[in-house]
Amino acid sequence: MLAPTSLLCYVLSLLLIIQTFIFWRSPASKSTPAIAPQSGIASPASSANASDWRFEPARDASNIALTAAQCDFAFPKLYAEVDRSVKFWRDKDHRISANDTRIRWRRDAAFRLLIHDNSLRILETRDTMNGPYRPRTLAVLHQLHQALLGATVSGEVLPPIQFAVTVDDMSLIPNVENDTHAIWSFTRRLADTDQERCWMIPDFNFWAGPDHAGSFYDAQARARRQNAYMLDKIPKAVWRGVVWTNQAVRGGLLQAVAGKPWADVAEVVWATKANFMPLEDLCRYAFVIHTEGRSWSGRLKYLLNCDSVPVVHKMDWTTHYYHLLVPAGAEQNHIPVRRDWADLEKKVQRYLTHLPASQKIADRAIATFRDQYLTPAAEACYWRRLVHGYSEVSEKPEVFEAGVGDGALDKVRGISFEEFVLAQEEWPPSGG
Ligand SMILES: *[C@@H]1O[C@H](CO)[C@@H](O)[C@H](O)[C@H]1NC(C)=O
Ligand SMILES: *[C@@H]1O[C@H](CO)[C@@H](O)[C@H](O)[C@H]1NC(C)=O
Repeated sequence: MLAPTSLLCYVLSLLLIIQTFIFWRSPASKSTPAIAPQSGIASPASSANASDWRFEPARDASNIALTAAQCDFAFPKLYAEVDRSVKFWRDKDHRISANDTRIRWRRDAAFRLLIHDNSLRILETRDTMNGPYRPRTLAVLHQLHQALLGATVSGEVLPPIQFAVTVDDMSLIPNVENDTHAIWSFTRRLADTDQERCWMIPDFNFWAGPDHAGSFYDAQARARRQNAYMLDKIPKAVWRGVVWTNQAVRGGLLQAVAGKPWADVAEVVWATKANFMPLEDLCRYAFVIHTEGRSWSGRLKYLLNCDSVPVVHKMDWTTHYYHLLVPAGAEQNHIPVRRDWADLEKKVQRYLTHLPASQKIADRAIATFRDQYLTPAAEACYWRRLVHGYSEVSEKPEVFEAGVGDGALDKVRGISFEEFVLAQEEWPPSGG
């Protein structure tokens, strides 16, 4: 029989052994195949194998530094417009040259950029710091800069490119025969073949919006707080906005819903703020109506943040993500209506009396847009793929200043993004 002290000794040793075993087991067990999928939770960006990683919006929505493999895996349908542009220039059998990125054909709202070693350089601006163009220009530069930072963090080096951007509502790309100018723009008119030379970029509202919309990240968070089932939403179709930007479509909507009990539609008067409704309040309605403006309208991305049913008229313009709007079938994620609104009443009334069907559409819209393709993570992935796609069909740019002596040979062209956003002045300063 063991003496009491020996017994105590024995028990303590046993505890020590057990403890050692547990300490030894736990780090080792993290790398066993049974829980390998969790390795992505600790550090999604370091997961080498995309197949043991999934995009989880609650965790990854604002991760701007997914790896290229994770970008492909998380957003398989995101890059249609990049692919279209690459195919367009391939079929044309024309490499975009430095001359094709000139912007003299635009009076304003345009700039020329250089990407080199994952950093952004401004080569030339044309009237970008006036009126609404200043915030748009700064937003787009920050969006690009952020995406480049994400590439750097995830260990990806993007190819050098030189390109032109416009932040106007319309690209106004030259429509003379055989023209080869190329420009990055928010939107293009589907019926206009000249605009096929435009490369679609996420618009400036993905950075932040005017009229108290806040940063896009905040707008998504505010919309999430309004989450509710169809049954608990106001059973009406809502719209707020100005009419002058598109009299035919927006004026037509006002006429189509005049006096209808299923509609809450009103024109906003900015001078008095009459009829203004914050974005998150739009989310309290069962149906949210989208309308085009002068060209595309940035509002759709905000409406898609609501877990309501988006009602979208037939559009003349497209953007980098409109191909993800599915009008019918098992993947339907909005209600399509005619541009003259003739079928609006019939459709809203039908879906008001079929709430389970409406709920499915709203659920799919949220899953597709707010929780996947319109996340800051997806946006960063899109910019990076755009840089790759563009580099495939454009000439390798001159990175350094031409010239000899005084270190001119290793002077990178243009001004850095970092300096530009401090000065916020046209570049080059002479305007030359
Ligand atoms: C670019 O345009 C300039 C001025 O029109 C012209 O002199 C030059 O030859 C052009 N370069 C190429 C490669 O076409
Ligand atoms: C456009 O290109 C075609 C085919 O190369 C050529 O026949 C035509 O003359 C060109 N048009 C102009 C205005 O340069």
